[in-house]
Amino acid sequence: MSQQEFASHHASHRSVDRALAELRSRIDRLDLPSLEADLGFPLAEVMSFYEGELAHRFPISFANPRQFLGRLAEQLPLSDVAAFLLCAQGCDWRTTDFFFDEEYRAGLRRKQEQGTLPLFDYLFFFAFPGWLATQERFRIFQAHMQPHVMDGASLASVPCGRMRDLLTLDYTRLRQPVRLVGIDKDEGALAGARELAQKILGKDSRVRAEWRAGDALRPGMTEPAAVEEFDLVTSNGLNIYLTDEQCALFYANVFAALKPGGIFITSHLVLPTYYRWDCVKRHHVQLQTVVWKTLINPLWESFLKPPEAVRDQMKRPGFVEVLIVPDSQGIFPTFVGHKPA
Ligand SMILES: C[S@@+](CC[C@H](N)C(=O)[O-])C[C@H]1O[C@@H](n2cnc3c(N)ncnc32)[C@H](O)[C@@H]1O
Repeated sequence: MSQQEFASHHASHRSVDRALAELRSRIDRLDLPSLEADLGFPLAEVMSFYEGELAHRFPISFANPRQFLGRLAEQLPLSDVAAFLLCAQGCDWRTTDFFFDEEYRAGLRRKQEQGTLPLFDYLFFFAFPGWLATQERFRIFQAHMQPHVMDGASLASVPCGRMRDLLTLDYTRLRQPVRLVGIDKDEGALAGARELAQKILGKDSRVRAEWRAGDALRPGMTEPAAVEEFDLVTSNGLNIYLTDEQCALFYANVFAALKPGGIFITSHLVLPTYYRWDCVKRHHVQLQTVVWKTLINPLWESFLKPPEAVRDQMKRPGFVEVLIVPDSQGIFPTFVGHKPA
């Protein structure tokens, strides 16, 4: 991985080796009884799940919980996404986009068939409930955005990352061009979005795409300010890293950027108490929880909240009829808010 690939709005670059060395020493110092009390289940349960379900495909040898965690840690650098998470404790535009990129997924499937898929690519892309929920969330967003693809509409993605959300909608029925606006703080993300637009849309005259560097937490977000400009704003992957105060700023900025009658579509990770436990694979959640709490410590874990709290925050600047659309596991609900006409 290049230095640039570790550029993140959340963490400064640290090498994988250094992050892994730090992690190893954290694992050596872990107070296992306190960890198990915090987890709410014994590590032995997760170890026996690993042995029963995963060890035949991803053999790692361990005799006790500390060794189990150490062996898992050694697997992290073998997956690009896991290595990034190890260093940054969150995803940037590039790593996030891998989850929605069919070509990337096809590459992982080929590795799976050849028996060369890294453990953490398997867990992140095909097993961990939180990541399956993020993939389902993408499809839920698409279903809610598509009806707003109308002649002459202005649709924005904030932060856009590679803007796969808007770029993959169906524009074939339009008679008047639609305007797509990608806003992101990171020029690298905007360049990645331009490149993807070229690949997906080519010279499709029904779509006019533009990109603006901007800060979603500043009033107006871009220069010139975005005021009553968009029919729809979609947002994934920013509010899950924001404090309540920052969410309030962000939602107010989106509200101001929408035309009267405009739609805001976003999502948020919720606390485990709100999961649909009858639809979630409990042992997968347990392994995911162990990985989060002991190996990665993702930043978003500090900002989990009840779905109603997200709805209330969206109502504060003026959104009405805020619809909560749960994914099948109830992990990453989508919120659709309306600015009054
Ligand atoms: C996790 S990525 C999500 C990108 C995209 N929405 C997606 O789903 O693929 C988060 C993005 O937020 C951008 N970002 C972080 N803070 C921002 C801010 N205050 N204003 C605008 N963009 C921001 C980052 O540059 C990054 O591209």
